[in-house]
Amino acid sequence: MSDIITDIILKAAEKARMETSNEPEPKVTGPAEWPINCTVGPGLEGAIACESKVGYVNGAKGWLIYRGYDIFDLCAYSNFEEVTYLLLHGELPSRKQFEEFNSKLIKYRYLYKTLRLLVGFPVEKMNTMAALRLGTNMMRQEFTFLDADEDAPVKGEAIASDDDSIAMETQPLGGKNATYEFRLGKKIKGLKRSKKKKIETRIDDGSNIDTCYHLISGVATITSAISRLHQGRIPLEPDPKLSHAGNILYMMTGEKPDPVAERIMDVSLILHADHGMNASTFASMVVASTLSDFYFSVGAGIGALNGPLHGGANQEVMKMLREIGSPGNVESWVAKALAAKKKITGFGHRVYKAYDPRARILEPLAEYLAGEYPVVKNDFLTAKRLEEEVLTRMGRERKIFPNVDFYSGIVYNALGVRSDMFTPVFAVSRVSGWAARVLEYQQNNRIFRPRALYTGAFNKEYIPPYKR
Ligand SMILES: CC(C)(COP(=O)(O)OP(=O)(O)OC[C@H]1O[C@@H](n2cnc3c(N)ncnc32)[C@H](O)[C@@H]1OP(=O)(O)O)[C@@H](O)C(=O)NCCC(=O)NCCS
Repeated sequence: MSDIITDIILKAAEKARMETSNEPEPKVTGPAEWPINCTVGPGLEGAIACESKVGYVNGAKGWLIYRGYDIFDLCAYSNFEEVTYLLLHGELPSRKQFEEFNSKLIKYRYLYKTLRLLVGFPVEKMNTMAALRLGTNMMRQEFTFLDADEDAPVKGEAIASDDDSIAMETQPLGGKNATYEFRLGKKIKGLKRSKKKKIETRIDDGSNIDTCYHLISGVATITSAISRLHQGRIPLEPDPKLSHAGNILYMMTGEKPDPVAERIMDVSLILHADHGMNASTFASMVVASTLSDFYFSVGAGIGALNGPLHGGANQEVMKMLREIGSPGNVESWVAKALAAKKKITGFGHRVYKAYDPRARILEPLAEYLAGEYPVVKNDFLTAKRLEEEVLTRMGRERKIFPNVDFYSGIVYNALGVRSDMFTPVFAVSRVSGWAARVLEYQQNNRIFRPRALYTGAFNKEYIPPYKR
């Protein structure tokens, strides 16, 4: 059954390779000489903040690479759990490594106490991302006891946040000088730590690999529970026999997914797992760089992903498709939208100037699902007609193609994922990328500290309130 999906992905890969074969091969990138020269735009656009071996995006070729492996190959032959291991550890797991890793994911999917706390909140009235963030905070509290008295920093040992900031008048010193930085969870030279009592239920100090596993599993459980609570239903327990993708669908819908639906969800999770230094990844890295723990990091990632400029465009696409109504209305709708200088949601990308490889895979998967699930057939036909119209009017020449969000909503809806859960499901996947990049950055940590160019006034005279 799943071979249908593999065939679809391999055909999409072939198409992608043919269409971009004329684009020049990228130069091989290597380790940087720090400090590095680069042209930086507002919002840190173009800035190189660190080196990474986790993932690579090439906008001209339409490439997305995780740890050296092409996304098309990973989607065709791998699965989300294996890809997560790859992202975190840098190599594909041996069978034994996979079994050990997977058994931890299974274990950490059970969040009895966290869910018991979560159902006590009016989750059904909350924004689903706010509820997800709350849930990850509860995981931190329940499992780590980080705030228990015995873990409080010992006075005189704690390092003030400004101790390692760069005076604004000096030039940034660059990575070579980051010698006073240290790795989370590692012993700091010359710093004595008080001996702590062991608490049986704790996982770790909130900053190491087990925390990452814990959150990768837990975010999926919490997301599924939020979906249930939003429907006025009780959260379901995970099924240890199902995959990560299968569990999400099962815990959301209450039905065991068929193998093809499970496989399509799995592919979708792989596709969203990592994507360079995007805003949520950067947000989670910034938090981790202060030596805060990974629960806080994930909270920052969720916060950033919640914004409409990042996660959530697929929800907008579904609204747009339903507003258009049918393929017959597309032409006039596009003409009006472009005349009003509107951007059409689901098209264009900051990095991809070729067809987004993720959309390349999601489009035929949406087509397959539209054939199986009448509920999304009209959405798919409308989307397909919209793609044709946009590409004819402005696509190939101006390099505006469908992006990842254009077809993903149709895929999710067909699989039974409600539109208000699209962004949390994105987080379920991206937490792997956040974890991989945070762990990598810890190897050579340096607190993020860009500067703002002060353009304000000087020497203003203070006027007391009664004179203003
Ligand atoms: C994603 C996005 C912000 C990328 O922006 P960008 O790379 O900075 O591209 P620009 O905004 O500079 O656009 C370049 C040109 O293409 C046009 N364009 C880009 N995306 C467009 C779209 N979706 N619909 C219509 N025109 C678009 C712009 O109007 C601009 O035209 P101009 O040169 O005449 O001013 C932009 O394509 C967009 O807003 N897309 C819709 C929202 C969306 O789908 N977001 C999810 C992204 S994963």
